[in-house]
This record gives sequence, C-alpha cells and structure tokens, in this order.
Amino acid sequence: MPTTSQAKGKTVQEHPSGDPRFKMIDRALKRSHYQQDALIEVLHTAQETFGYLTEDLLIYVAQQLKLPPSWVYGVATFYHFFSMKPQGVHSCVVCLGTACYVKRASDIVTSLKAEYGVDPGQTTPDGQLSVSAARCVGSCGLAPVVVIDGAIVGKEAHEATIERVRKLVKGGSNGSTSKTSIEEAKAS
Ligand code: FES
Repeated sequence: MPTTSQAKGKTVQEHPSGDPRFKMIDRALKRSHYQQDALIEVLHTAQETFGYLTEDLLIYVAQQLKLPPSWVYGVATFYHFFSMKPQGVHSCVVCLGTACYVKRASDIVTSLKAEYGVDPGQTTPDGQLSVSAARCVGSCGLAPVVVIDGAIVGKEAHEATIERVRKLVKGGSNGSTSKTSIEEAKAS
C-alpha cells in the first residue's frame, strides 16, 4: 500500500519501499495528471525502469490511477511488449502473426528451441536470452519478421536468426540494425 504524505498542501501517495525507481513512475503519473487513459504510458515507464512488471508495480499503478487491479493486470498481460517475468540480457521476438506464420516463422521458433532450449515466453537459465512471440509487429510486407534487441529484421531465415542470436549472446554485434535489415529485405 502506498503511504500518504502532505506536500505543498497536496496529498501525495508514495511507495513505502523508498525505492527511488518509484519516483520515475511518479513522474510519469504526474505528467499525465493521473489520467486513467495514461495507463499504457505509465506501464511502459514502469517496465523501462524495473525491467519487467511485478505484481507490486501493477498494484501501485492501479492505486495511483484509481483503476481496478484486475484491469491493470489485464492490460499488462494483453500486450506482448509488457513482461511479467525478469527478462534476459538480449531479446528475440518472433512474429507469429498470419503473414509471418505462412512464411514459416514457426521454423525460427523451432530453431531457437533447438539451440537454446527455450520456448516463447521463456528466458535461458543463464539469463542471456529471452524469446517471445508476437501476433503482428506491423511489418507484414517483410514477413517473416523477428525483433532482436528492439531491431526489426525482415525476410528472415531461421538459420540467419540463430546466427544473429549466437553473435549477440557471445557478446558480439547483434548483426542487425533495423534500418539496414529492413532496407536489405526491401531490396531483395
Ligand atoms: S504478421 Fe508478422 S509483421 Fe504482421
């Protein structure tokens, strides 16, 4: 439960942990004037600050925005870009939307599983790689699409994904910059 304090005549709810990261969330809440429709923006800030969304964070945000916790939980679990589990150092999101699926995106998932032993929604035991799946990342013309550490890579073969991820996990270049990969894909 947040604690209540008085500041300049205003009632301010603060997280009792004293964790300074909550100040980032408080700033996002203040910027949005505690409007309930700022929920997604506030959750983004919470995830960027903490790495993933804990139950405690969701309850805090729900209380601050005066929303039912079940609503906030529903939003956090509906969108693929929110995570309720600790994430790996690197991330690989495989799009399994219709356009990508018919271009055999599932082969990429199978190869990642064979190489790293993880299914979408899981992180390798060493914490180096999180694999997840998305319904559509909005680049259907480039199917199949993967998003590696936030960079979109289009027209991707499963062998190429494994190669990119191997380099990443070894600490090399991720082998993908969104612009080049998209441009390359468009040119081919
Ligand atoms: S279905 Fe994969 S980008 Fe749209």
